[in-house]
Amino acid sequence: MTARIIDGNALSSEVRGQLAERAAALIAKGVTPCLAVILVGEDPASAVYVRNKVAACEKAGMRSLKDVYAPDVDPAVVFKRIAELNADPTVHGILVQLPLPKHFDAEAVLEAIAPEKDVDGFHAENVGALMQGNPRFIPCTPYGVMKMLESAKVPLKGAEVVIVGRSNIVGKPMAMLLLAQSCTVTICHSQSKDLAFHTRRADILVAAVGRAKMITGDMIKPGATVIDVGINRIADGPNAGKLCGDVDFETAKEVAGAITPVPGGVGPMTITMLLANTLEAAERTAK
Ligand code: GUN
Repeated sequence: MTARIIDGNALSSEVRGQLAERAAALIAKGVTPCLAVILVGEDPASAVYVRNKVAACEKAGMRSLKDVYAPDVDPAVVFKRIAELNADPTVHGILVQLPLPKHFDAEAVLEAIAPEKDVDGFHAENVGALMQGNPRFIPCTPYGVMKMLESAKVPLKGAEVVIVGRSNIVGKPMAMLLLAQSCTVTICHSQSKDLAFHTRRADILVAAVGRAKMITGDMIKPGATVIDVGINRIADGPNAGKLCGDVDFETAKEVAGAITPVPGGVGPMTITMLLANTLEAAERTAK
């Protein structure tokens, strides 16, 4: 049997359509939702992500600001810009693209963003709120995954979930969100013993490690839902330059019940939920 495909592009267009309507209603009240994006350095992948985020804002009728700094910029310049954006009432969301160059204290940068404008949900105050089950902003990638599970009507209560990856951006917040839906959650990582032992028990398997095709069909429980958060570029061979996930799609789709593809799965949903958080931030200021 071949797995059902959970189509992130289709769900994204549907949700973005709804967001554009909400944005238009807010604009009619005199508030134009605005996202400010800061990019430091010349990492090509980060540049593409930022370009896509800005383009998605414009398409949904929202405003965006983009500040790009040289890789060797003095962090004080970036802190000053964040302070300006914090104080600007026409800016509703602020996002600093990660990773930052090594001479930056990334944690201090995230803490400098006003929590009510932290649409990534990375500020310690917002991380704490999520952990307490009372989120202000849900980090965009895990938020997108939750929307995909909901739209695919995947049962969550009591489900065995295995998350591979323990990052602050995906693995940890993903665990909190699924726990809040009464899943039994296991987080695996690079030091986990016998990874396949864990993954084979999962009703829902979330792969977020950043290693191309590391989850193969033999590591998946028949009928499981497989969510592939990875975005890796194939280095060589006939498919060099193409994108692939952390899951080996060809073998996984023969075992899984439902699966997200790469590209066209979680990726578009991440940007969609960034728009949702920005709009939400703007709506809160208009209340
Ligand atoms: N780098 C990779 N993913 C993300 C994300 O969701 N937000 C930010 N700010 N940087 C990232």
